Amino acid sequence: MPSFKSLIPAVAAAVLLAGSAYAGDLVKYKVVEYGIPKSLTGKAGDPEAGEKAFVNRKLGNCLACHQVTKLSAHPFHGEIGPSLDGVAERYEEPQLRLQVVNAKEINPDTIMPGFYRTEGLHLVSDKFKGKPILTAQEVEDVVAYLKTLK
Ligand code: HEC
Repeated sequence: MPSFKSLIPAVAAAVLLAGSAYAGDLVKYKVVEYGIPKSLTGKAGDPEAGEKAFVNRKLGNCLACHQVTKLSAHPFHGEIGPSLDGVAERYEEPQLRLQVVNAKEINPDTIMPGFYRTEGLHLVSDKFKGKPILTAQEVEDVVAYLKTLK
């Protein structure tokens, strides 16, 4: 079951301009041309850890909406989002990073949750308030995993 907050589209008032950065505990990042050029951790992620976060229902839960042929052993993938087969050939790393961090900066109407943000989320229980779904390290790991999908 995807969590509630992943299903409630954030109010479109979240108009985020290029160059915006977040305060709070999140690592600050810079958006340049629909991408985040720099790693959030300053290092490359680990694709194997990224695959684990990708399939983990409590972390990325990416399979709730996407399919990847190589992961078809995992049941119950969703088809709300496009297949991510070959996604590394369609996008460069900075675009993949922004897509995971905050897909709404690319498409304000998307239902894909922003995995590294704490604003604009609704119905968040106290336990999760102020925490992004993925840590900066997990974002980098997932990006490294996406880069293997050729
Ligand atoms: C609630 C459904 C949902 C979840 C969960 C979700 N996505 Fe998405 N994703 C989408 C939709 C819908 C799109 C299509 C683009 C849009 O809506 O702007 C998309 C687009 C993408 C794209 C661009 C693909 C392309 O070919 O254009 C990537 C990459 C992506 N998602 C990665 C992820 C990753 C990685 C995760 C898990 C960390 C994830 N998504 C979780 C719904 C979801």
